[in-house]
Parts: sequence; C-alpha cells; structure tokens
Amino acid sequence: MTKKAKIFIAIDLQNLDQTKELIYKLSPKYCGIKVGKELFTVGGPKLIEWIQKKGFEIFLDLKFHDIPNTVRNACHAAANLGVSIINVHALGGIDMMKAGKDGIENSNFSPKLIGVTLLTSHDQNSLAEIGLHGSINEQILRLAKNIKTSGLDGIVCSAIDIVNIKKTLPNNFIYITPGIRLEHSLKDDQKRIMTPQEAIKAGSNILVIGRPITKSNNPEKTLLSIYNQIQ
Ligand code: C5P
Repeated sequence: MTKKAKIFIAIDLQNLDQTKELIYKLSPKYCGIKVGKELFTVGGPKLIEWIQKKGFEIFLDLKFHDIPNTVRNACHAAANLGVSIINVHALGGIDMMKAGKDGIENSNFSPKLIGVTLLTSHDQNSLAEIGLHGSINEQILRLAKNIKTSGLDGIVCSAIDIVNIKKTLPNNFIYITPGIRLEHSLKDDQKRIMTPQEAIKAGSNILVIGRPITKSNNPEKTLLSIYNQIQ
C-alpha cells in the first residue's frame, strides 16, 4: 500500500477572477495551493491573504535565485506572509541558500525552505544547451547535497530522481515532486513524469499537480479522485 502524501495544486493563471472561481471549487481538506510567479505577479500579498482566509496552506513557489543578500530579504518577506513553503534555486549556490534560511529564521513565522534541483522540464539536451555537461543524475545529486549542506528542509525534484538522491539525504527530508501526470501519455511540456501513485511509492511527500487538475473538465472531481487513490 502507498503512504499518504499532500497535494498542492499549481494554479498557474494570470486572471484573478478565474483563480478565485477555481479555488471556490476546491477544499482545503484535500489540498494546499501553490502560488507561482504568474499568479503572485498579478495577485500579490492580497491574494495570498484571500487564499489563506479560505483555509488553504500555501506553497509560495517563487524559486528565488539572486545574490545572497537579496535572497535573504526576499525569503524574510515571503515568510512574513505566513505561507507554509518557500523555495530557492539550488543553482544559486550554498551561500545564497544559507542566506535564504537566515532570512526565514529572522521572520515571524517558520515556513519550510525548499531547494529546487533541476526543473522537471529539463533533459540532457537542454542541460547541455546551458553548459551543464555531466549526466542529469550527477547534476541533481550534486545540487541535492548542496541543499542539505545549506540546512534547507527539503527538495523539489522529479519523482524519478528520489530513489537516486534519497541515499545521500536525511530521512526527514521533504520531497516535493512536480511533473505529475495521471497517464504517461499526457506530458504537456514536462519531460520526466510519474503518476501520483508512482511518485508516492518513490518517496514523495508532496505532489505538485497543475494542469491535470486545473485544466480538467471537473477539477473538484479530479482532485477528489486523486486524493482517494493515494489514501
Ligand atoms: O501543470 P503542471 O502539473 O505541469 O505544473 C507543474 C508546476 O510545478 C508548475 O507550476 C511548475 O512551475 C512547477 N515546477 C515544475 N518543475 C520543477 C519545479 C516546479 O514543473 N522542478
């Protein structure tokens, strides 16, 4: 039997009315909400507060990547919004990730700080294109170790990579996995995908699911069906 994981729904919309309409159909009993760059850019802290008042936990997916001082201050500001999860790109380096952690420690709340290894839209070819020539597994392992060294709480990675990286990370690490699809044939722009059950079996604690729910004919029903499948 698979063990339980939490679902965060990626609402990658730029329209506040559509966002609210979608959120009204969901229940905080079954999911949290992931607010990314598109939505935060249009909705800002006011939207975060609106979603929190509906009872949802929030994963603020802004993937900070900048000089350490800027990331420290950005993480501090994000933590003070009262969200549950914040993230940074591991490609920003250890000093940058430590600064992010420091920013959170000096805030009024204690959200989890998560490092992003490689985007699940990358494959070997697209990595070579940006000058990363080792194997995809080597890159991910190196970044995962840096995330641990920086004292972060967990990582975002493809569920496919968990087996490989779990050996080198603490047991209580949080594994957040996007790139979830209900069927292997439905990939959109994701290249390295798993189904919800496969991801949980691999060790995922949090499933980030966007289009398979938000673009389905009945988001409410699709969410409930996934929730029931992974109990
Ligand atoms: O619609 P879909 O399920 O592909 O959405 C995946 C979400 O996870 C998007 O919001 C995307 O930005 C995010 N994400 C990702 N790969 C990562 C980190 C985050 O796809 N490595």
